[in-house]
Amino acid sequence: MNLNLAVFGSGNGSNCKAIVKAVDEKKLAAEVRLVISDQENAGILTFARERGIPSRWISREQYQTKDLFYSELTALLRYHQVGFIVLAGYLRKIGKPLIDMYPDKIINIHPALLPAFGGKGMYGIRVHQAVIDAGVKVTGITVHLVDEHYDHGPIVLQQAIDVDEQDTPETLAEKVLKLEHSYYPEAIRYFAENRCAVLNRKVCIKHSQKN
Ligand code: GRF
Repeated sequence: MNLNLAVFGSGNGSNCKAIVKAVDEKKLAAEVRLVISDQENAGILTFARERGIPSRWISREQYQTKDLFYSELTALLRYHQVGFIVLAGYLRKIGKPLIDMYPDKIINIHPALLPAFGGKGMYGIRVHQAVIDAGVKVTGITVHLVDEHYDHGPIVLQQAIDVDEQDTPETLAEKVLKLEHSYYPEAIRYFAENRCAVLNRKVCIKHSQKN
């Protein structure tokens, strides 16, 4: 049975595109049922509309209370029968109502090797600038389960790449984003194929036989 996904994003949506591509190419047994953005003009919403994927601009500011916001959002997720949430460049913190509704079923991708270079305000080019400033020799990507803190929660997958002496924040951003596109669908596959277990707040992956 396919995993029914909602993808949340605030930006371009290039990871969302990579996920949809993996689904189209039958590399991922999932379906993107819904795209959510807190930004009215986000590229991720344009992409969803072009692809005919149900999408919605919804943000906390549109509602008088947090409760009203979450009851609308959770109703939308229920209506579209979403079973798993993928954060792809979503800049808002995920609140308790969603975490309670989707226990260990929300993942995020971060463009560095957590727990380094993460946390509030660490997104986009700032992450890569911090990596260069620190003079570390490797960086990479982290996919993790989402809890109520920014860039926190059990790690599902990490991939590292070298930081070369000539790298700038921009060249690193480009290399890291490419890595995200190839590994985010792979991380979702662990869940789609039921190969993920969370024991003592640590993620264990059962590798498929072909690996
Ligand atoms: C990615 O670098 C991701 O790691 C971060 O935000 C960026 C999203 O890019 N959380 P896109 O919107 O998927 O193109």
